[in-house]
Amino acid sequence: MSGAALHWRDNPAPGTPRLSAAEVLALVRDPMQAVETRLLAQMESPMGRIPEVGGHLLGAGGKRLRPLLAVLACRATDAPLNVAIAVGCAAELIHTATLFHDDVVDGGVVRRGRPAARMVYGNGIAVLVGDFCLARGLGTVSATGSLIAVESLAAAVTEMAEGEVAQLEGAGDPAATTDSYFDVIDRKTGSLMAWCARVGGVLPGPLDATLARYGRLLGRAFQITDDVLDCADDETASGKSPGRDLQEGKLTLPVLLACEARPALRDDIRSAMGDSGLSAEDAARILRATRAAGGIDRARAEAMALARNAVAELQAVPPSSFRDALASLARLSVERVA
Ligand code: IPE
Ligand code: IPE
Ligand code: MG
Ligand code: MG
Repeated sequence: MSGAALHWRDNPAPGTPRLSAAEVLALVRDPMQAVETRLLAQMESPMGRIPEVGGHLLGAGGKRLRPLLAVLACRATDAPLNVAIAVGCAAELIHTATLFHDDVVDGGVVRRGRPAARMVYGNGIAVLVGDFCLARGLGTVSATGSLIAVESLAAAVTEMAEGEVAQLEGAGDPAATTDSYFDVIDRKTGSLMAWCARVGGVLPGPLDATLARYGRLLGRAFQITDDVLDCADDETASGKSPGRDLQEGKLTLPVLLACEARPALRDDIRSAMGDSGLSAEDAARILRATRAAGGIDRARAEAMALARNAVAELQAVPPSSFRDALASLARLSVERVA
């Protein structure tokens, strides 16, 4: 299983089921192993560079949260397991594609504790191997024969692309709002997580709507936590280099909430913002002010509240250890350090 999952802390918030990450994984070890085997098979290609570059990212671990969502939601609802394994594998391939592309767009240098693929192999091949992963993800889900799964995946990937474009277009705007922030993260992160929690859309109507809401809420909580982790002030266990968001001109929730508490911070950001974002020094200063204004604490509290709302949605799912595991995943998503 992925190494990054081991970094999840296991100090539960009150009122939510208390399965540890290891206990969650133990419930679905076999189907998750099936996802892993299928992922490896999907990266095969006579063009040897493709498995090599793909393996650089896929072999570096990752939490495999999206396949976990699909497999747990399947077991909690009695959906067909073969569809969930395909959905989990497709989602991880598409997630992998977006990471290849995202590091090119964001100028990312470290990913999963390794140099980003683009740093080792170059931007061009990173984009093309990302395209390969996307195509293999689409092939994997279409092999289920479920048109609804293919259609709903197309809708999710469309949203993801729109979210990434909206974020790029909004970068450098010192007047960014929490509304625009939530719109971006719902699209770029929530859409794929919701697709997984819905097991690709094959669940019956009421469960489909419930798990879609659960997935969206979890996606929000998860991305806010990612953005909080980017505000770390020192070496981080996240396997990524912190401080990038502000340097790219992206105002994430901790900064936006700090600006609400201390409006002068917005003026400071406005005067420091250049065409390509903030300098490393300005970003570090704004992050210190964000911390001092309570922006990180408020963003963490928001993520925790969203995770609790995600758990509340699960009341409509029949009780089982798998439902408890889904609830625990919401909690782990906000308490994670990687
Ligand atoms: C990273 O996703 C991109 C975001 C949506 C924040 P993950 O944090 O799930 O990445 P891995 O797969 O565990 O590396
Ligand atoms: C990752 O987003 C890409 C998608 C969610 C589609 P981010 O840029 O926020 O994630 P990291 O921090 O680089 O992993
Ligand atoms: Mg990005
Ligand atoms: Mg990025």
